[in-house]
Amino acid sequence: LKVDSGLGRGGALPGDWQRLVDQAAAAQSAGHLDVTGVWSHLARSNEPGHPSIAAQTATFDAAVAYANSAGLEPCHVHLANSGGALASPDTWFTMVRPGIAIYGVTPFPDGASPVELVPAMTLRATVALAKRAPAGLGVSYGHTYTTERETTLALVPLGYGDGIPRHASGRGPVLVGGQRFRIAGRVCMDQFVLDVGDAAVHAGDVAVLFGRADRGEPTAYDWAVAADTIGYEIVTRLGARVSRTYVGEVAR
Ligand SMILES: Cc1ncc(COP(=O)(O)O)c(C=O)c1O
Repeated sequence: LKVDSGLGRGGALPGDWQRLVDQAAAAQSAGHLDVTGVWSHLARSNEPGHPSIAAQTATFDAAVAYANSAGLEPCHVHLANSGGALASPDTWFTMVRPGIAIYGVTPFPDGASPVELVPAMTLRATVALAKRAPAGLGVSYGHTYTTERETTLALVPLGYGDGIPRHASGRGPVLVGGQRFRIAGRVCMDQFVLDVGDAAVHAGDVAVLFGRADRGEPTAYDWAVAADTIGYEIVTRLGARVSRTYVGEVAR
C-alpha cells in the first residue's frame, strides 16, 4: 500500500489512508490478499536537512502505525530513494530504493556525496573521421562555432538521436587520447564534432563522453551541468542504437 506522505504524486493521501487500510485489512482477513509492504516516496531527499524530509518521515511513521493498529504487519516498509539512503538515516525503515546511486551517480545537485560513489557506466564512441581544417571554417548546423586557426576536427558518431542532449552543444566534455575537449558547435542527430587543435587524434580513436572521474574521464554529472539537466537524465536517455556491454559481476 502506498501512502502519499508529501510528494503529491502516487499513493493515497493521509485523508484517504485509514479507509484504504481498513479495506485492505478486511480483504486480507477474508483471504483475498496479503499486504506485504507499505511505502512512500520523498520529494526533496536531494536536499539533506530540508524540513519536508522530517515531515514526510513523520507522516509515513503515522501511516505505518495505523496499518499496524489495523492488524497489518507488512514486512517491507520503505521510503528512501538515493538521497534518503545516502544522507537521511531516519528514512531507512526496512529497506531503501536507490536508483541513481546504483549508477554511481550522485543525486545531490552540487555533485557531492557523503558516501563515495563509483560510476558504473561509461559512454564511449569511436572517432569516425579526423581531418585538418583551415581557420575560419564554420562547424556543424548553424555555424555556431568557427575554427580560430588551422586545426583538426574529429567527428564522433553519437547525436541527439542516441540521447546526447542537443542542449550540450558547444559544451559537452569528451576525452580523447587523454585530453579533454568540448563539443564544437551543434550536436546533430547522429554525430557531433570536436575541435582537437593539433592533438594527434585519428579515426578509430576512443572518445569517452562520460565515465569515471578517477580515470580523468568526464562524468555524467559534468554532462548534466553542460546540458543544464540532472545526471539522472544523462544516464537514462541513451537510445536503442547505443549498444550496451555489461562488465564485472553483472556480465557473469
Ligand atoms: C518510487 C521511486 N522510488 C525510488 C526511485 C529512485 O530514486 P533515486 O534515483 O533518486 O534513487 C524513484 C525514481 O524515480 C521512484 O520513482
